[in-house]
Amino acid sequence: MNAAEVDAAILVGGKGTRLRPLTLSAPKPMLPTAGLPFLTHLLSRIADAGVKHVVLGTSYKAEVFEKEFGDGSALGLDIEYVFEEQPRGTGGGIANVASKLRYDTALIFNGDVLSGCDLNALLSSHEERQADVSLHLVRVGDPRAFGCVPTDSDGGVTAFLEKTQDPPTDQINAGCYVFNRDVIDRIPTGREVSVEREVFPGLLSDGLKVCGYVDATYWRDMGTPEDFVRGSADLVRGIAPSPALKGHRGEQLVHDGASIGPGALIIGGSVVGRGAEIGPGVRLDGAVIFDGAHVEAGAVIERSIIGFGARIGPRALIRDGVIGDGANIGARCELLRGARVWPGVTIPDVGIRYSTDV
Ligand code: GDD
Ligand code: MG
Repeated sequence: MNAAEVDAAILVGGKGTRLRPLTLSAPKPMLPTAGLPFLTHLLSRIADAGVKHVVLGTSYKAEVFEKEFGDGSALGLDIEYVFEEQPRGTGGGIANVASKLRYDTALIFNGDVLSGCDLNALLSSHEERQADVSLHLVRVGDPRAFGCVPTDSDGGVTAFLEKTQDPPTDQINAGCYVFNRDVIDRIPTGREVSVEREVFPGLLSDGLKVCGYVDATYWRDMGTPEDFVRGSADLVRGIAPSPALKGHRGEQLVHDGASIGPGALIIGGSVVGRGAEIGPGVRLDGAVIFDGAHVEAGAVIERSIIGFGARIGPRALIRDGVIGDGANIGARCELLRGARVWPGVTIPDVGIRYSTDV
């Protein structure tokens, strides 16, 4: 199958609640990841596979996407946008892009997945097996947070169990599908539809041919702070593939206009955004520092995200935390284990500690 004659559609309408407070100001697929909006990595992979026409299914903060990507020509793509005033769910989002599709086959993507899946191999598998729908599947340690997708010995999908507490297999929906156009036309319109909970089970009970394509390439859903931080670091270190990074590989990615003080240690795939200031003796390990943030002398940031323009005071410790845009964390504060600070909030010097040796 010629990828240039396949549409791609990307679902980007979710609210990204698990990544709050960062997603209060930007939709999840636009959060800077290894210095680029996350979606740039996915779009560049789509372009690399030879696909030309892409439709973005937007809803939450829709305007941000077109502002960034325009007609897609900078990425060698032809990008169009459809907007859902009311979010229609993942199935409704697919139905909603139908009017823009040009070909008989469409690749559909969740907009928050970092993956190394060979899209042309997925398309070939779909064609060879004469499937109605093909699903990219991967194996994970804990399938309960995903769509569990058992297959038979021929790779035929036998069930689709979204976020079940009792998964029969570790094989899950990787969030990338091939749909024949006529199957998309079967999805109900004008109401909320879940592709995982309604469309896939319906196709199976109607006897359509739904095939699994399993691989073992890099895969990560970026929807939680923990995964976002890991995925960003993996991009920086070249463990996760992205044609947009043009072969960058290293312990750190420091952007133009950032300043780094003497003795600062930046490791673990950390990213420092444009205009950020990193003070003397700071230690960043697996840190994601957005543009314009300030990290003052001696502070330690591990596996955490520091929002746009936030300030981290001297000798503060942030570990597995998310600091909202413009927040102000006082000197020697300690924020650990999933702590989230909302945008603009100020925590006074020594305002939060996990130890008493002040
Ligand atoms: N257009 C539109 N409209 N897009 C939506 C809507 C909507 O109403 N709701 C969600 N999306 C988009 C999100 O922006 C995201 O890119 C994608 O659909 C998936 O939504 P998530 O909220 O990230 O879903 P998930 O991570 O819990 O689960 C999904 O992904 C897993 C793999 O990463 C499911 O597809 C699981 O089955 C799958 O295993
Ligand atoms: Mg997700």
